[in-house]
Amino acid sequence: MASEEFQPLQGMSDLSSPEISIWHRIESTTRRVFHLYGCEEVRTPVLEKSTVFERTMGDTTDVVQKEMYVFEDRGGRRVALRPEGTAGVMRYIAGLGQDGNDARVYYIGPMFRCERPQAGRKRQFHQLGAELIGPANAAADAEAIAMQVQLLRELGARDFKVQLNTRGLSEDREAVVKGLRALLEPRRAELGEDDQRRLDQNILRVLDTKDEKSLPIVKSLPPMTEFMAESSRAYLQDVVSHLKRLEIDVVLNPRLVRGLDYYMHTVWEITHPALGSQDALAGGGRYKITIGDRAVEGVGFAMGMERLVTALQKDLGDAAAAPKLALIWVVSLGPAAFQENFRLVQTLRMRGVRCGLDLAGRSMKAQMRAADRAGATAVIIRGDTEMEKGVFVFKDMATGTQTELAMPELLERLQSVNLVA
Ligand code: HAM
Repeated sequence: MASEEFQPLQGMSDLSSPEISIWHRIESTTRRVFHLYGCEEVRTPVLEKSTVFERTMGDTTDVVQKEMYVFEDRGGRRVALRPEGTAGVMRYIAGLGQDGNDARVYYIGPMFRCERPQAGRKRQFHQLGAELIGPANAAADAEAIAMQVQLLRELGARDFKVQLNTRGLSEDREAVVKGLRALLEPRRAELGEDDQRRLDQNILRVLDTKDEKSLPIVKSLPPMTEFMAESSRAYLQDVVSHLKRLEIDVVLNPRLVRGLDYYMHTVWEITHPALGSQDALAGGGRYKITIGDRAVEGVGFAMGMERLVTALQKDLGDAAAAPKLALIWVVSLGPAAFQENFRLVQTLRMRGVRCGLDLAGRSMKAQMRAADRAGATAVIIRGDTEMEKGVFVFKDMATGTQTELAMPELLERLQSVNLVA
């Protein structure tokens, strides 16, 4: 176990090679796919006034009540590290006025929730997400889901499942809460402790309980859509039909409510079996969020990138990583060859060849060992003899064969190995 001095804070991680290569592939694929759907990137600050999150996410949500990193800055202002991306984006969109009415944006970046660290739950994690602004429209909801599914397919994820439900409109809320309360209140004592608290504060959250004590009761409840107006049920059916037209399979899950307060109409989660008990790869839904005198309507989602990396490693193994350029190592026999090779390496890099060389004047054996350690595909060896003859010795590391090549052949050969390891 490395000394604590070298460790980041609990629940936070250094992201580095080799996994970072999977992150790169996720990020570049996200940018490309989301661009196809008309989204532009927005980068909002990581730190905001705490009210940005409190008013958007609802102050009875677990994230706001228990998990936000909130503190006073040096000027005595109450600020918070963003626990999710939507609230900051809504502040930004509301600030655009009319120009924000049909904005489509996406974001990629770190989020912070001071949760009890466990598998799949980090205190600093990363999300990629998108928000499609516009009034309630079942086709837009289907498009937001399609965007995520296309991303997952292009990344090569296989075993994911889209679960769909509706939260109805705010008008339905009262009937749903009343209906659920009538069924749950008589059985209050049989519910887990957290769910008894939710019964008072945010009854819908009882539905997505993970508490073994509450589960049998919750599973016996009718789907909450039964308490909703016909039009809300029809909206959900519209989303399902649109998705069918796009050949996207979904599973209706009447107990799915999502942990954030801003949703209305469609909500969904994408789950993946590689994730264990925290199996939500992504979550999203439609919302109407009021900021000052503006109401922003839209539909959006966020995907947990750590969880996505885990899912891709499970589905793809080594192929989860971004392909790398082959590495060429240049070995110098003597100081004169080093001078020439130092320049050669620069020239090759300018031609797009990924290469390296020993800068410390070590022995040939040490240089070959370094090439091996760095995972070089081929080595170019040059000493006084080669310089006199105007050639390079090209060694293929996989086969061990060595060939003497002049510059034009060397470049040709490099082009063929440079394609990707
Ligand atoms: P969320 O469900 O809170 O939704 O988070 C979305 C995803 O972020 C989760 O499905 C999960 O993969 C990942 N995630 C959340 N918390 C953690 C954690 N502690 N450690 C690792 N991964 C985590 C939202 O954040 C909404 N803003 C989504 C949205 C956008 N709805 C509308 N627009």
